[in-house]
Amino acid sequence: NKKAFIFDLDGVIVDTAKFHFIAWQRLAASLGINFTHEENEQLKGVSRVNSLKKILEWGNKTITAEVFQEKMDQKNEEYLDLIKTLDTSDIMPGVHNFLLELKDKNQPIALGSASKNARPILEKLGIKNLFDVIVDGTNVTKAKPDPEVFLSACSQLGYHAHDSIVFEDSVAGVQAANTAGMISIGLGEKDILHEADEVFNHFTDMPEDYINTLLNKNK
Ligand code: G6P
Ligand code: MG
Repeated sequence: NKKAFIFDLDGVIVDTAKFHFIAWQRLAASLGINFTHEENEQLKGVSRVNSLKKILEWGNKTITAEVFQEKMDQKNEEYLDLIKTLDTSDIMPGVHNFLLELKDKNQPIALGSASKNARPILEKLGIKNLFDVIVDGTNVTKAKPDPEVFLSACSQLGYHAHDSIVFEDSVAGVQAANTAGMISIGLGEKDILHEADEVFNHFTDMPEDYINTLLNKNK
């Protein structure tokens, strides 16, 4: 009995949202735009390009294509500088054990992230080798809520969508999983992620033997 286990990165495996927030806030400030924590919430799971588009929209600003590219690069440099010191201790509670348990049970594991920085981040965390397949922002053309990233991950693992389980902290990601016909497990707040099949605050809040429960679960 096997299923494809597909994990989002930011907000599921590692808490990078705070660093994205600082980097976007500085970027917004450089354009004279005020950027709030609430707005940052709406950027979770959203690609770099689409995030900048939204910030410009909220700030009522237009910039040339050239400046747009510059600002994206600037944001990413800032972000990379902020995550320089990430290491194993930054893995979110319960995630490492969960991955090791899956390995123990010979279950296939994939990453399905919008981030173009996913591979170096997994390396910093020391868990890149646990993933059989990695699909990230460098491999897909359509951003979540489009299911492309998850469909690509499950087909590369050789599984059907209905035998796949997605772990997500963003609304867009939960919608992508649901659209693909996959089981969606939300990590975060129930009222925000109410479209998910099940929601937990953290992996540590999952009941005993939850992997077996999931292996017997159907969409
Ligand atoms: C994830 C994060 C977003 C981020 C996006 C792109 O989905 O939740 O906040 O904007 O990845 O990340 P990148 O590292 O490519 O800028
Ligand atoms: Mg996320």
